[in-house]
Amino acid sequence: WWGHVEPAPKDPILGVTEAFLADPSPDKVNVGVGAYRDDNGKPVVLECVREAERRIAGTLNMEYLPMGGSVKMIEETLKLAYGEDSEFIKDKRIAAVQALSGTGACRLFADFQKRFLPDSQIYIPIPTWANHHNIWRDARVPQRTLRYYHPESKGLDFASMMDDIRNAPNGSFFLLHACAHNPTGVDPSEEQWREISYQFKVKNHFPFFDMAYQGFASGDPERDAKAIRIFLEDGHPIGCAQSYAKNMGLYGQRIGCLSILCEDEMQAVAVKSQLQQLARPMYSNPPVHGALIVSTILGDTELKNLWLKEVKGMADRIIGMRKALRENLEKLGSPLSWEHITNQIGMFCYSGLTPEQVDRLTSEFHIYMTRNGRISMAGVTTGNIGYLANAIHEVTTS
Ligand code: LMR
Repeated sequence: WWGHVEPAPKDPILGVTEAFLADPSPDKVNVGVGAYRDDNGKPVVLECVREAERRIAGTLNMEYLPMGGSVKMIEETLKLAYGEDSEFIKDKRIAAVQALSGTGACRLFADFQKRFLPDSQIYIPIPTWANHHNIWRDARVPQRTLRYYHPESKGLDFASMMDDIRNAPNGSFFLLHACAHNPTGVDPSEEQWREISYQFKVKNHFPFFDMAYQGFASGDPERDAKAIRIFLEDGHPIGCAQSYAKNMGLYGQRIGCLSILCEDEMQAVAVKSQLQQLARPMYSNPPVHGALIVSTILGDTELKNLWLKEVKGMADRIIGMRKALRENLEKLGSPLSWEHITNQIGMFCYSGLTPEQVDRLTSEFHIYMTRNGRISMAGVTTGNIGYLANAIHEVTTS
């Protein structure tokens, strides 16, 4: 039956973790996957999560959630994206369902897009998180490219981005990273977002925001929702994928949310019912534990404040590591500019290292990262930063 099945290629991100785990070297460093580590390189469970678990212990039964997921969790999650006092929430204009983290939210949206606008395409920034391509490919939505990154400046190619937005057929779908762009760490400025939003309005494009890193760009989830808020102010219908993998450290709980802002409540009811229809034959209904952790934290002022403090703590540690990595490279006398390490934001530094240089880092120094040169700054610690800087210096100068 399966003789014709070839092995699948390794996942460009999760495959890095597999290779790292298989390496017996005591020096090995993993700056591949975007998963936060403390300064000892250990995974972190936030104190607000521990406290929420204590509070819910023993109270939970194991019944199914509704197909659309936890109503309480969704309510709190929408406030983070759309604003505490959002008129759209009050007017019940948002169709929202619990999703299997950001990936699941994107996939549900892609399937919804294919089912109800089967001839549509989606513009995807180049580069983007590798899995975005898989998601829209498997949903059979054709992909077009949105120029985004400028390799020379290691910043935003705003002019080309705007050209692509202007030249796309009216009413096109665009995938946008709401903040802390993965993999580049390059975000448009507020002013640029306003111009993008304006042009979307002119062209009647549909913005779909993937917000996987809310809180990791500025340290403040509210500020990181700025791009979305600009689009909302300008009266766009939007779609939004939210995830608690990073900002609550709930990676393996697979907890997130897909929302679509509709024209009115009736439309939102219809859209939500169709999203549930998509979920039912795929996974029936989403898991309960992560949803309860999230709603317990966000529904309690004290726990929510603790969460905000902890998000800022994670973002600040990363910012500190950015400064230190740049300083280390400059101290080694690197002839190259490493300014972009501190200019870029969020979990990732798009270093500019070539695939061959990355291969050398792995084979000679046991340092693991994706071949596009992306460094997960969340994996950099005071213990490994000297070793990492030295290795980067070696492969970029000899
Ligand atoms: C990453 O980009 O490293 C993360 O979003 C993890 C993943 O699933 O790829």
